Amino acid sequence: MRIQGYPDPGAGLRLHLNENTGGCSPRVLEAIRRIATTDVSTYPSYPSLVTACARHFNVDPDWVLLTNGLDEGILMAAVGHIARARAHDAETIVPMPAFDPYPNATAAVGAHAVRIQPEPGYVFQTDAVLRAITPRTRIIFLNTPNNPTGQLIPIADLSRIAESAPQAIVLIDEAYIEFGGRTFLPELRRYPNVLVGRTFSKAYGLAGMRVGILIGQPTALDPVREVTLPFNINAAAIAATMAALEDREFLPRYAHEVAESRLRLYAACDRLGLEYWKSAANFVLVRVGDAVPLFVEALAARHVHVRDRSKDPATPGCVRITAGVLEHTDAAIEALESVVTARRP
Ligand SMILES: Cc1ncc(COP(=O)(O)O)c(C=O)c1O
Repeated sequence: MRIQGYPDPGAGLRLHLNENTGGCSPRVLEAIRRIATTDVSTYPSYPSLVTACARHFNVDPDWVLLTNGLDEGILMAAVGHIARARAHDAETIVPMPAFDPYPNATAAVGAHAVRIQPEPGYVFQTDAVLRAITPRTRIIFLNTPNNPTGQLIPIADLSRIAESAPQAIVLIDEAYIEFGGRTFLPELRRYPNVLVGRTFSKAYGLAGMRVGILIGQPTALDPVREVTLPFNINAAAIAATMAALEDREFLPRYAHEVAESRLRLYAACDRLGLEYWKSAANFVLVRVGDAVPLFVEALAARHVHVRDRSKDPATPGCVRITAGVLEHTDAAIEALESVVTARRP
């Protein structure tokens, strides 16, 4: 029997989905509590949230499309630019390792994902992406910092790719950009074929509210707007996102804590002799060797849940660990140390 919904790992530290481990701003909860009964009984209206987001990201309001999590934005980009356009033999380009919804959305609209295999060290393969571009390419999915490696794509490389594929949409997924790296947003005016994806799930701690954004010029955004359902953001999420945008102190404080948590994770990996990749995001990819599922189980038995990445050929022997609140990172490191030590002869 298959039951809908992502499995809950149970009690313990959730370091497997790159969530904000400290929760959202208290101002968000206050705003949700202030929702009126009629906000719940009427269909949501969100031009004021769109305008607030446009102001926040310094773009025109018609460059903003709110989506039910960036997940929905990824799927709707594929529906709008491939399915709706009835693009036969359409291809997308997906540099590996990649966030699953890119190949999944590609498959959902009957297109073919051209996967770019990584090099050791996970340095971004700009030339391989450029070589993979064909007249059939409809969407190029680029993720910076990358989930799960934490690696950045230089702005100049993003620009080169966008210039080399004027017939395609370049979707730059910046879900983790608040934790490191430079956003492509200031460059957008020069690129009618680029969509930048952002989310309130990670740095803002609103994963349970499901709010993401696609930002781009109307040429790239309107085909996605056409296929996106009109009431895709709910009343609680609207109030929550408004309040999150207004709390200017929350995000820099949390990003600072994440940066320190990453350093502690690196130091622990150095002590334990584990290979890892320095990350610009709120997680670190760590190679723990063989029998990763047993390793993940042993950590779970110590109430620490991390993501098993070993089934992906692009990340053999790896787990991905969320770096968030320092206290949580310290607890994870303690569990990591005891599991690694117990497994050594
Ligand atoms: C790279 C990347 N893009 C997009 C998302 C989706 O975010 P949202 O919660 O807004 O759907 C995630 C979530 O894990 C992600 O890792």
